[in-house]
Amino acid sequence: MKKLVILTGAGMSAESGIRTFRDMGGLWEQYDVMEVASPRGWEQNRDLVLQFYNERRRQLKECQPNAGHLGLVDLEADFDVQIITQNVDNLHERAGSSKVLHLHGLLTQARSTADERMVYDIGYNDINDGDFCEKGSQLRPNIVWFGEAVPAIHEAEEITRKADIFVVIGTSLSVYPAAGLCHMVKEGCPIFIIDPNEINTTIYSDYEFINEKAGDGVMRLKMLLRKYF
Ligand code: OAD
Repeated sequence: MKKLVILTGAGMSAESGIRTFRDMGGLWEQYDVMEVASPRGWEQNRDLVLQFYNERRRQLKECQPNAGHLGLVDLEADFDVQIITQNVDNLHERAGSSKVLHLHGLLTQARSTADERMVYDIGYNDINDGDFCEKGSQLRPNIVWFGEAVPAIHEAEEITRKADIFVVIGTSLSVYPAAGLCHMVKEGCPIFIIDPNEINTTIYSDYEFINEKAGDGVMRLKMLLRKYF
């Protein structure tokens, strides 16, 4: 089976009702990213950060995977599909995708502020000031904030290097190191990009642009892959 590696971003979940970050009306228009998604923000106003992610988690509980997520599951019948996602939602897993690597963490997990290896599944429950790990340290969302290292990037690079086909769905490719994965594909690897808007594709020399939202775009991708591979 050919290895199909798919890098997804916020646009993947837009049709599930989750707002993107940088589109008009996106989350970073309403919130100051450094206040809610950085170590400095956490130092300055822990309650605001906890409230921001508690809200995202409660909202996620009400959302369902969309046609795009489900379409990627179908592709597993014909391809060895590996998803690398920047999204902190769990919609790929809930749709049924079997191999999902989260680059920026997961909303449904908390972690200790004393030891980043101490990670807890919390489902859709809130994290509150005064919730501690066994070592007595405050819990925080298990999300990679701006300025923090991205531990999963090395595994993501390994996976990307092995791709026979590489697909990018719903990301502005403006955040590194995730966006840099695009440089890691092997020579001659076909690249498909699904996005309803123009994005910064100057990083690629050759790619097929599917100018659709994720749901319709994945349907079109399936047709193209069946035809050519
Ligand atoms: P962005 O908000 O930067 O980009 C979203 C992309 O999705 C844009 O290119 C849109 O055109 C596209 N889009 C919008 N609606 C869509 C739809 N229905 N179907 C497909 N695409 C659609 O989000 P990301 O690139 O994911 O990090 O942002 C990367 C990171 O920046 C996030 O993981 C997050 C953020 O700050 C953290 O929170 C750590």
